[in-house]
Amino acid sequence: MRLHDGWWTVAAAAVAACAGLVACAWISTHIDVDPALHTAALFVHLASLVLGFGAVLVADYYGLLWMTRRCTLHEALGATSRLHLPIWAGLGGLIVSGVMLEPKLSSALTCVKLALVLLLTVNGLQAGLLNQRMAQHGPTALTPRLLAWGAGTALVSQICWWGAVVIGFHNSQH
Ligand code: HEM
Repeated sequence: MRLHDGWWTVAAAAVAACAGLVACAWISTHIDVDPALHTAALFVHLASLVLGFGAVLVADYYGLLWMTRRCTLHEALGATSRLHLPIWAGLGGLIVSGVMLEPKLSSALTCVKLALVLLLTVNGLQAGLLNQRMAQHGPTALTPRLLAWGAGTALVSQICWWGAVVIGFHNSQH
């Protein structure tokens, strides 16, 4: 059984991701972080942001190249599937380091940020299925349904990543 076998495996992974994020939020309230560890975690947080969000932006750039006919669908899908590792590694680094940044879970904005992180995780899980369905389509033009699915996935991804960046930046100022 593989992650992108179908909607059931994606849904099971989404439930696991949700449980994992709740566990991380719980852990963050039960650990003691000294200032040196906080500073180190902030560095890891920013480095993971560069890795994960950077790779997301490259994937979306390939989507734009394909839309403007500067590369084939095959090339765009191949490049995107190779970006999964840095995207997931960056997201994992953001979550693990975020736990050590003493998030204030009583703040509504922090809860919105965590909801955005969950949404972008689930969106990323279903994006793997989309990538697979597009690859199975062959050289013929994509159906309107697959095009709308792709556009929706890219939009949700951008909104969630930028939203988490803006809230993270805002929280660090207060
Ligand atoms: C996609 C995921 C995430 C993104 C894009 C993101 C982005 C950011 C950014 C841009 C900052 C500002 C850093 C600065 O200006 O110095 C930040 C700070 C912060 N993040 Fe995240 N973050 C993510 C996930 C998380 C998670 C999952 C947690 C908690 C479990 C978290 C907790 C925090 C905290 C507490 C700060 C404030 C740190 C401080 O000022 O000391 N972040 N984040």
